[in-house]
Amino acid sequence: MDPSLLNRSWTHEQGFQLSTNPNQIPLSDLNDFFSDMPWANPLPEAALRNLIRQSLCFALYDVHNADHKLVGIARWISDFVSVAYLTDVYLLPAYRSQGLGKWMMSCIDETFHSMEHLRGMILIVDRGGGEEILYRKYLGMDDLQSPAILLDRKGRGSAR
Ligand SMILES: CC(C)(COP(=O)(O)OP(=O)(O)OC[C@H]1O[C@@H](n2cnc3c(N)ncnc32)[C@H](O)[C@@H]1OP(=O)(O)O)[C@@H](O)C(=O)NCCC(=O)NCCS
Repeated sequence: MDPSLLNRSWTHEQGFQLSTNPNQIPLSDLNDFFSDMPWANPLPEAALRNLIRQSLCFALYDVHNADHKLVGIARWISDFVSVAYLTDVYLLPAYRSQGLGKWMMSCIDETFHSMEHLRGMILIVDRGGGEEILYRKYLGMDDLQSPAILLDRKGRGSAR
């Protein structure tokens, strides 16, 4: 893996920082996010640590105050070379609809472009919602090309 992938950061002029450093992520705050995501469940600490270690997390911090609170996340599951699955895109409600989601997508897009052997990226989203627009318009995602389909199977940890 390119180690620089886990050490990137972007500064937003309105007092936010996006970082891929997994060591910065506060586990309990991330678990609060999972409690609020309809598709996820909170996890025991050891499982959370494993999840972070094996993902590329784009963690968004509010840096207006010294505590640098975690306010959002976008998590990639990947081999960091050839394929990537984007999941767990989330902002705390107070931080939504201010353009931060679009900004996170632009940083992800930049990272995606920097990976020369990456074949592609997939994600799953409800059809017809605002999030579908976000991914299509700001991350360049598109429908699977016909006749391909996406199959899935729920696991024991699925929330829905
Ligand atoms: C999805 C999410 C990260 C988007 O971040 P955001 O900061 O609210 O979005 P932004 O303000 O940056 O911009 C949203 C853009 O995408 C569209 N969009 C995204 N989510 C939307 C929503 N829920 N309702 C309406 N439009 C939405 C808008 O059209 C807008 O584009 P435009 O300015 O060209 O009209 C955030 O709303 C969120 O955390 N939602 C709850 C969790 C969730 O649903 N995650 C995605 C699961 S697939």
